[in-house]
Amino acid sequence: MEVTDYAFFPTRVATIQFPDTGPLNAELCDLFERRPELDDRFNTHPDALNLLRLADRVPAIEQLRSMFLTGVKHWLEAEGIAGPEGLDLLLFSNRVGRGEGTIVHNHPADLIGIYYARTADSDRPPIQPADGEDYFEPGDGVLVLHDPRFNANLTAVCHRDHVKVIPRPGLMLIFPAYVWHSVTPHRGEFHRLAFSMNFTLRWPAGPAEYHSLKQ
Ligand SMILES: [Fe+2]
Repeated sequence: MEVTDYAFFPTRVATIQFPDTGPLNAELCDLFERRPELDDRFNTHPDALNLLRLADRVPAIEQLRSMFLTGVKHWLEAEGIAGPEGLDLLLFSNRVGRGEGTIVHNHPADLIGIYYARTADSDRPPIQPADGEDYFEPGDGVLVLHDPRFNANLTAVCHRDHVKVIPRPGLMLIFPAYVWHSVTPHRGEFHRLAFSMNFTLRWPAGPAEYHSLKQ
C-alpha cells in the first residue's frame, strides 16, 4: 500500500515583525491626529486617496513605503515569482474609534500588505489558527482571514476555515488580495491605526501581435 498526502492550493500569508518601530508609529499616529481627513479607510472609491502622494514630504510615509516593499519582495521570492517588472502601489489607512470594525471584504489588487501602527495590547502570538478557536469570539480589533475556498466552512471534513490575527504595532502581513478578511470591533478608547497597501503586479509587455478580422 502506498499512501501519499497532499495539501494542494495553499495560500501564502507572510508576517514580518519590524523592530524598533516606536518612533515611526508615534509619527504616523501624530500625523493622523493632526490630519484625520487623510484617513480614507477603503480604496474601493474611485477618488481614493493614495497616501504615497505624501511620501516626499512625510518621512514616516516614505519609511512605510520602503517597509511594504521589503514585505512584498519577501512574499514574491518565497512564492518563486520573479516575472513582474514592477508594482503599482496604493497606500491607504484605516483609523477606527471604539466599537468600529470592518466587514468582510477583499481588495482589487494582486497582493495586500497591512501594517499596524497602533492596536490593543496582547501577549498572544499574532497568528491564531482555527483549531481550538471560537470563530464567533470577537476579541479586540482582530483581523480574521477567511478561507478563500468557496463555502469551505460548510464542508464537514474541514475545520480550518479561518485564521485570526492578533495585531500589534510593528507587525506587517502580506497575502493575496483575493483572501476575504474582516476586522472585529476595536474596544479601546484610543484610535486604532492600520495601513493597507494594494500591490498590483506589472508584467513585461508580450510581443505585439494584431490580427485583423477584415480582409
Ligand atoms: Fe482590507
